[in-house]
Amino acid sequence: MLRVAVVQFAPAFGDPARNLATMLALLDAARAAHIVIFPELATTGYFFQSRQEVAAVAEPVDGPTLERLRREAQWRQQVLVVGFAEQADRRLYNAAAVLLPGEEHCIVYRKTHLFYKEKLCFDPGDTGFPVVYIPALDVRLGVMICYDWRFPEAARTLALQGAELIACPSNLVTEAWEMVMPVRALENKVYLAVANRTGVEERGGERLIFRGKSAVYAYTGHPLCRANAEETTVLLAEIEPEQTRTKAFDPLDDLFADRRPEYYRL
Ligand code: ACM
Repeated sequence: MLRVAVVQFAPAFGDPARNLATMLALLDAARAAHIVIFPELATTGYFFQSRQEVAAVAEPVDGPTLERLRREAQWRQQVLVVGFAEQADRRLYNAAAVLLPGEEHCIVYRKTHLFYKEKLCFDPGDTGFPVVYIPALDVRLGVMICYDWRFPEAARTLALQGAELIACPSNLVTEAWEMVMPVRALENKVYLAVANRTGVEERGGERLIFRGKSAVYAYTGHPLCRANAEETTVLLAEIEPEQTRTKAFDPLDDLFADRRPEYYRL
């Protein structure tokens, strides 16, 4: 049995120091979890209007904010998944880091499908969809970010690589995802943890409302826990990753063995 926490809060725009302090306080409430998942761009806020704005707060993976969280992962012996703005040479990515206790280097996923004004502010991700095996927890953890949910290929690619739990740091601004995320879990027979943010960002004459409702979905598509639209909270779910290792859902039917890729066009 593995305990997964999703953290829901409203990151402050352009203020990594304040967000780090909030995240550290919320980690105290997530103390019982083996894996803790924070929202997309949790360290910086979301609604950037230009690359210059991103560059002002983006950090490399070994920058001060992630380094502080890496030490926290080590001290707490927890795996942390953190959405952040990554600067790598001249490139800027909407990224998520997987910080592993006992590991100097973290795994980074750079968002594949950029949404709306992200296209003006970030470079498209070039990492593909990573799956990391964590021996101490005997789980295979995959990562995608927010808008990736609209592309069934993202979760399917992670599942085909063996992901048993998909972490999905998010800043969701529509409501359609509530119908679809459980389906991503069910159609791949994986657990799916959505850490969404709350709050409002008004920038460039536009207002984005982030509607929370973070959740952990079982491989059946049923929610194991769910937050409301506005609360700052840490949700905890117990999962059994070994249940996802066979894709059979009855004695004759198997989601992966029954695939007919020769008839698919991707
Ligand atoms: C989103 O990808 N943040 C909607």
